[in-house]
Order: sequence, then structure tokens, then C-alpha cells
Amino acid sequence: MKILFLNGPNLNLLGQRQPEIYGGVTIGEIERRVRHRAAQLRVEVEFRQTNLEGELVGWIQKAIGEFDVVVLNAAAYTHTSIALRDAISAISIPTIEIHLSNIHAREEFRRNSMIAAVCKGQISGFGVNSYILGLEAAVNING
Ligand code: DQA
Repeated sequence: MKILFLNGPNLNLLGQRQPEIYGGVTIGEIERRVRHRAAQLRVEVEFRQTNLEGELVGWIQKAIGEFDVVVLNAAAYTHTSIALRDAISAISIPTIEIHLSNIHAREEFRRNSMIAAVCKGQISGFGVNSYILGLEAAVNING
């Protein structure tokens, strides 16, 4: 099984970015923890980050035929991007939405996710563990 982890804008700044909200762990450390758990579960993972919306769209499109599940932290594009929503709808690969923070417990504008309705489910508010839970949800996607 191959799982594609995609990370959106500003997540490259994790560790120094609003640690009171996102914690002190870097994206590199998150990737390391995801890879450690993936090895235990005997699945393959690819882990990417970009600040560009179009790059995320391209990666989602190209996942067809290569990955079984997409785990997506779309960051701020979660709340704005019809393009991402359409890309997720266009592929037949189940996509799991994840967030470090609880987007429902923050500013009003974060409560709306443009992608939630086309994702298999949402994991939000568990810090780095949102990634591990996303991985475990992906591994068990077929029940
Ligand atoms: C985030 C939540 C988003 O609202 C925010 O724009 C982010 C990170 C999270 O992981 O908690 O950049 O996706």
C-alpha cells in the first residue's frame, strides 16, 4: 500500500510558527514519525510540502495509479480552495483531511472546510498525532 502525504502553505515553518497553536515540532520531525509508524505498519509513504496551490492540485492529479490513499493537510487552502476540492473529486483515490489544530475551535473562517465534503473524513486537533491517526485511517481505509 502506498500513501501520499501532502502539506500546504506555511507548514514548512512548523517548529517556529505559532508554537502555542501548532506545537514545536518541525515538518521534518513529523515526516520522521510518520515514516517510523509506516514502517511498523508495513506501508510505503511519500511526504511532500508546498506553498503553492497549483502544485498541490498537480500532485493530487498525478496520484492516480500511483497511490492508494492521499492524506492532506491543505493548511490555509482548506478554507479557500475550490481547485483543491475539484481535484480531490476528480480522482478516485480516497483522501483524508488532517489538521494539527482543531479548526472548529478557532476563528470562524477556519470552521469552513472547502474540501471536507469530498474527503473520506477529517482528523483535526491532535497535533502531530493527527498525522499518525491519518496514517492509521489510511491503512484501514477499506475497513
Ligand atoms: C492547519 C489549520 C489551518 O487553518 C491553517 O491555515 C494552517 C494549519 C492545521 O494543521 O492546524 O496552516 O491546517
